Parts: sequence; C-alpha cells; structure tokens
Amino acid sequence: ISLSEPTTAPAPVWSSRFAFLAAAVGSAVGLGNIWKFPYMAGANGGGAFVILYLGMVAVIGVPILIAELTLGRRGGAAVSRCFGRITGGKGRLWNALGWLSAGTAIVILSFYSIVAGWALAYAVKSVSGSMQGLAPEDYAAHFDTLLANPGEMIFWQAVILGATASIAAGGVRGGLDRAVRWLMPLLALLLVALGVYAAALGDAGAALRFLFTPDFSALTPEAALSAAGHAFFTLSLGVGAMIAYGGYIPEHVSVPRAAAWVALFDTLCALAAGMVIFPIVFAFGLDPAAGPGLIFVTLPVAFGAMPGGAIAGGLFFTLLVIAALTSTLSLIEPMAASLANDGASRRVWTLRLTAIAGALGLVSVFSFNIWSEVRLWDAEKTLFDWLNHLTTEISLPLGGMGVAIFAGWAAPKTLLRGEFASGKAYRVWRFLIRYVAPLAVAAVFIHLVI
Ligand code: PFF
Ligand code: NA
Repeated sequence: ISLSEPTTAPAPVWSSRFAFLAAAVGSAVGLGNIWKFPYMAGANGGGAFVILYLGMVAVIGVPILIAELTLGRRGGAAVSRCFGRITGGKGRLWNALGWLSAGTAIVILSFYSIVAGWALAYAVKSVSGSMQGLAPEDYAAHFDTLLANPGEMIFWQAVILGATASIAAGGVRGGLDRAVRWLMPLLALLLVALGVYAAALGDAGAALRFLFTPDFSALTPEAALSAAGHAFFTLSLGVGAMIAYGGYIPEHVSVPRAAAWVALFDTLCALAAGMVIFPIVFAFGLDPAAGPGLIFVTLPVAFGAMPGGAIAGGLFFTLLVIAALTSTLSLIEPMAASLANDGASRRVWTLRLTAIAGALGLVSVFSFNIWSEVRLWDAEKTLFDWLNHLTTEISLPLGGMGVAIFAGWAAPKTLLRGEFASGKAYRVWRFLIRYVAPLAVAAVFIHLVI
C-alpha cells in the first residue's frame, strides 16, 4: 500500500470514444441545426449560405474546437481554472475568460430551454391530435397563444430544465455518459426516418435545388458574418462547453480527429434537418424564408394536412427536444465542473444552476407577453432579443477569439503540438488559430459596430 493514498477521487473520464463523441456531437447538434440553420439558409439565399457556412466551420470552427478540447484535456474540465493550470499559474488572469464563458453558458441556457420547451409543447400537442386539420392561419394563432401565456411557457421550460438537472446531477459517468449513449442513436434514427417521410411525401427535388444551388448574389458580407457567428454557435464554441467535455476525454482518443467528426456530424444533421423541412415546405407552397417561425408556424401547417402528420409532427418535435436536451446538458457543465468537487456538491450545484437559469429565463418568458413593449436603447429588440444578442453575438465570438489567442499565442507550444500526428497538420492549425480565427472574429465585431 502506497503511503500517498490519493485524497480525492480520480477525475471522471468518458466510458469510451463513442460516449465522448456522442456527448460532443450531442452538444453541437441542437436547436442551432434544426431550428436556426434552416431558417438562416432560407433567409440568406439557400446554397450560397450553405457554402459560406461550410467554409467558416472548416476555417474557424474546427481549429477552435481542437483548441477547446485540448485545453480541457490538458487543463481540466473546470474552465475557471484550466487556463491558469496550463500556463503553470502565470496566466491566471486568463481564468476570467473561463468564468465569462461559463456564465454565458448559463444565460444561454435560460432562453435556449424556453425554445426547447416550445418544442416539447408541440410534440405533445401533435401527438394528441390537436394540431391536425386546422386552417393555415390558425397555426400562427396557436403559436401566438403559447407566447402570450407565461404560465404555459414556464411549465414547459421547467420540464426541460428538470430533465437537464436530473441527468446532469448524476455526474459524468452516471449522468451525461449514460444518457447520450442512447439519446444520440435515437436522434439519428428519428432524423433518417423523418428524412424518408419527407422525401416520400414532399418535394425533395425542390429542397435539394434550394439547399445546394448557390445564388452567388446572396454572398454578401452580412451573410458571411451571420455564417461566422453561426459556426461558433452550432459547434458549441466560446462558452466553455467543449473545454469541459474535453476534460473527460480518454487518453487514446485523437482530438483533431474527434473535432473533425463532431463538425462533420453537426453539418450533416443541419443539412438533414433541411432535407426534412424544405421538401414539406415546398410541397405545400409555403415560404422557406419565414424566419424563426419556420418550424413553429409554417411546418405545422403542412404536418396538419399530411397523412400520418400527427405522428410525423410528434416525432419531429421529439427529435428537436432530444437535440436540445443533449445541448442543455453541456450548457450546465462548464459551471458545474468549476463549482462542484464531489458527487454531493455536484447534485447541489446542478440544482442551483438550473434554478438560476429558470429564474433568469423569466425575463425572456415575459418579454413575449407582459413585457413585450419593453425596449432598451434599441427600438427593435425585446429583452429576449437582447439576451440572445449579448450572448450568442457578442460574448460567444469573444470567448472563441479569447480561446484562439490563448491557444495560439499564450499556451506553451508543446501543448497542442502533442495532439497532432503530423507536423504539417499542426502548422496548418497553428496558422488558422493565430491569424485567421482572431481576424475573422474581429471582422464580425467591426461590422457590428459600424
Ligand atoms: N450547439 C448548439 C446548437 O447548435 O443548438 C447550441 C449550443 C449548445 C451552444 C451548447 C453552446 C453550448 F455550449
Ligand atoms: Na449545432
């Protein structure tokens, strides 16, 4: 028996490479893929936006994802300490970036869980048959009624946050790992089944033309910037989620390869979601550029009139709930890993953190009804719009830029070189992370200010 018996439990590790990939893909694939991507593509010229988006994912998304996973792996899942640890204490000030990211994740959770709640409400309403055979304008009215009713929104959001807390409280192995290992295959199955349904009953040709024929006149600076912003959001970058998940990677897993898989699956899921939604939208002559209401107003019109539409609609919104839930799990993790140091404190902290997200979520809930007239500085933005803007458009790209600068300029060179099998791949990564990624984010900001 050794005299230096460890006093703390060993750090948790994903049970397998599959479990890690399921968790990371689960974090990445979410409302961003199924709700946001299709309407952004719809509003920005279809195929042209898809090309921009693929470029941004490859050139800034994947390099930053590699950086975040490695920072977690070498510095630990607690984003509030990982930067200082990597620099041997010299870079402790960088830990502020970790706290900012973890805090941003909780704010995102406060409204992300509201949209997930809408999806859950729609899943239940679809299956119950109450969404079948209404007149087209009744679907818009239906959504407006949900938004006008704070009690109902709070209820559905609470179910989502409760599910998130009860899984996250189980810890990495007993909670996250166990849940994503069956939720992610189920998600893939639902996506394929719905794709077949949409191809059989919808206009797949029109959807393919829409998603893959680039209209180059739509390649505007605005479209490029929203594609860049979305690349961060869709890969869960800039909020410490991938740093935290990187903290549990088993020793034998290659980070650059894992990052490539995550980006690939995330992109495939976004395109597959497009191939579920647009064939149906086009077959019914609906508007592909309907914006945020595409899924909650436009699509239900079609499901409400299609054979098997109650079941298909129910499965579609269930898919959305699963995708969102595996993302909310990763929004708690940066704070949970930073604040908890054993199983008992983890249970307490996950409860506290979801309660904080729920309380903060009230601001967003009310901004759709009793506070819908409240404006600060900007006549266009509700409080929900502000929270969304300050997090996903400001804090998240800033967090990603911080990670890029830290990994490219401040972290010891050997730290990342060790993750790459080939020197050439490492040099490409290093160029992208030192110059391209920070400049791309700077461009987004300069554009925001002007
Ligand atoms: N990647 C998620 C999506 O596309 O829906 C959103 C997200 C999840 C962002 C988790 C950040 C995060 F930490
Ligand atoms: Na995503």
